[in-house]
Amino acid sequence: MSVSEFLHDKSQQVEAALEAALNECDKVPSALMEAMRYSLLGGGKRLRPALALSACELVCGDACPAIPAACALEMVHCYSLIHDDLPAMDDDDMRRGKASSHKRFGEATAILAGDALLTLAFEVLAQSGDIRQILTLAKAAGPEGMVCGQILDMHAEGRPHSFESLCHIHACKTGALIRASLELGALAAGAQYDQLPPFTRFGEHLGLLFQITDDILDVEGDAELLGKSIGKDAQNEKATYPQLLGMKEARRLAEDAADQAREALAPFGERARIFHQLVLYILHRNH
Ligand code: IPE
Ligand code: IPE
Ligand code: MG
Ligand code: MG
Ligand code: MG
Repeated sequence: MSVSEFLHDKSQQVEAALEAALNECDKVPSALMEAMRYSLLGGGKRLRPALALSACELVCGDACPAIPAACALEMVHCYSLIHDDLPAMDDDDMRRGKASSHKRFGEATAILAGDALLTLAFEVLAQSGDIRQILTLAKAAGPEGMVCGQILDMHAEGRPHSFESLCHIHACKTGALIRASLELGALAAGAQYDQLPPFTRFGEHLGLLFQITDDILDVEGDAELLGKSIGKDAQNEKATYPQLLGMKEARRLAEDAADQAREALAPFGERARIFHQLVLYILHRNH
């Protein structure tokens, strides 16, 4: 199976479950539901759900136990994108080829749609009955994870920063949720904590690779293909790999991160084939 077929297959699985989760919320005011649907069902690669479903499959041979985790991860991710695009943050008008949430619905509704998706994520994940998954997602999304990365990203704008602090920002703002996707998938399959380290290591390298390529695409990507504006990082004087190290070195570090991600898969042998393919897909992605 090619990576695009694989992502398509996993997207369909998670999108049906996301649709069902929204349909169960029948007391939501229509203006809020419209904004939630717009962001949650409005495209996207669904990478985090695909990682969770595949990690689950790798451990127990079945992806279904990770459906609540896959939905929760995509809800948290979509909330993070809505808030990331707000004028007070990156101030982006385009997301996934459409107007960003605040452009379409206004800032107040966008903020609340983000809040609603974040909260609903934990309601959905609670259906797994597994406190370990809830804790793992809370840690990854919260003030020591993604939100930590987002505030450090904002504070680094226009200021000098070291390579170490840049790595820390990327590990938190993007790496934490990607790492958690793999861990949640394994936990959903019934893995014990001592089985997690290879998933954690793989997720950390993959997360870094993902954000380095995001930074590179912001410089030389195609806005049409990406579905979001380019050149915004330079405009906002963001701390990025190309900005700190130049494009050539950023590309080299992306390749290093890809190698390290693939090395972390060694314990899984041949069974991790799709993860190897995903690493190469992310390294060479154009959207
Ligand atoms: C964009 O994430 C934000 C980052 C964390 C870099 P994705 O590139 O996964 O966005 P979608 O979900 O495919 O739109
Ligand atoms: C986003 O990083 C990280 C999160 C949304 C948590 P970016 O700000 O680089 O993502 P894009 O480029 O807007 O998608
Ligand atoms: Mg940002
Ligand atoms: Mg942004
Ligand atoms: Mg970016």
